[in-house]
Amino acid sequence: MSKRLGFAALSASLALTLAACGGEGAGGSGGAGSSAAAEDLTIGVSMPTQTSERWINDGNSVKQQLEDKGYTVDLQYANDDIPTQSQQIDQMITEGADILVIAAIDGTALSGQLETAASNDIPVISYDRLIRDSANVDFYVSFDNFAVGQAQANALLTGLGIKNEDGSAGSATGPFNIELFAGSLDDNNTHFFFDGAMDVLQPLIDDGTLVVKSGQTDIEQVAILRWQQETAQKRMEDLLTGTYNDGSKVNGVLSPYDGLSRGIITALTNAGYGPTLSSQPNPMAVVTGQDAEIASVKLINDGVQSSTIFKDTRKLAEQAVIAAQAFAEGNQPEANNTDTYDNGVKVVPSYLLPVQTVYKDNIQSVLIDSGYWTADEVAKGQSD
Ligand code: GAL
Repeated sequence: MSKRLGFAALSASLALTLAACGGEGAGGSGGAGSSAAAEDLTIGVSMPTQTSERWINDGNSVKQQLEDKGYTVDLQYANDDIPTQSQQIDQMITEGADILVIAAIDGTALSGQLETAASNDIPVISYDRLIRDSANVDFYVSFDNFAVGQAQANALLTGLGIKNEDGSAGSATGPFNIELFAGSLDDNNTHFFFDGAMDVLQPLIDDGTLVVKSGQTDIEQVAILRWQQETAQKRMEDLLTGTYNDGSKVNGVLSPYDGLSRGIITALTNAGYGPTLSSQPNPMAVVTGQDAEIASVKLINDGVQSSTIFKDTRKLAEQAVIAAQAFAEGNQPEANNTDTYDNGVKVVPSYLLPVQTVYKDNIQSVLIDSGYWTADEVAKGQSD
């Protein structure tokens, strides 16, 4: 049977006070008290989908690192289906999970599950995507998501030649036609990515350097439900046949995720762009990305996709494990941000990691030298 931690039910301040006094958390109803041996604890890890390799890597890294510390791990993927994720979490709780690590599909759809978790004294760690509208989110591990959006916009400007990789002014002045894409509106990150990007792009749209020829600049107009590659491809096809049927060209596309980027690139390729960024007379448009998925890293290496944002899922997993460990020991995890991530009910203490922009010329130093991908995987566009 589960050794409930009896910790999540404590208010954050009480918990902090207890931790500061070196005291133990209050034992939960019939629980093992605040500190339990890793061997006695089960950690439920709920990931959104296996269709994106990024989440497979996240799931594997979290599981591996927790098991290395002696925990038992119940890892589930929800196939991007909200009821499936809810059921999986319900089941984790029923089967005695002591701590939950959750990357939500819909950040607003898990209040019921979190309520049950709280009443069973199960701490909840929100993984990469903030769970919203619930007081029962104990900690958040992610990246600096506003900075991700800014980095994507800067990568777009770099690809167009308006900026250099080091941020200095480039030689190109425009005007350039661009189109904007955003992720799934039910993912809290989507808004941070888009706001971060628009923080950089809006002044250049205002001064005419960048022209969003479709006129679609609201997040609701450009969002792609569930981050689906096919939906992004379809929207890009519609833009090409609708907005760019007069002989004009789209020069750049802000894409917030590699899966969407590949859909966008397929649409552009089918319309005669490319195959590469240097093809003449009709070069591939500058397309950004995120996650350094292997298929996209190959496209960047081949000069087709312009950039991606690398978020080291190994490090994110490590932070989730550190947070879980802190809860297991009856402590509060150490946050490095306590004011940005308001989930609608409370500001969730967070640990945010930095990100890196990847272009063709730093695939080696950022992705291969760090052991994230091998040169062979990059050449094949497939993980081993
Ligand atoms: C976001 C995540 C991105 C990307 C996207 C699609 O929540 O932060 O890195 O993976 O989902 O899966």
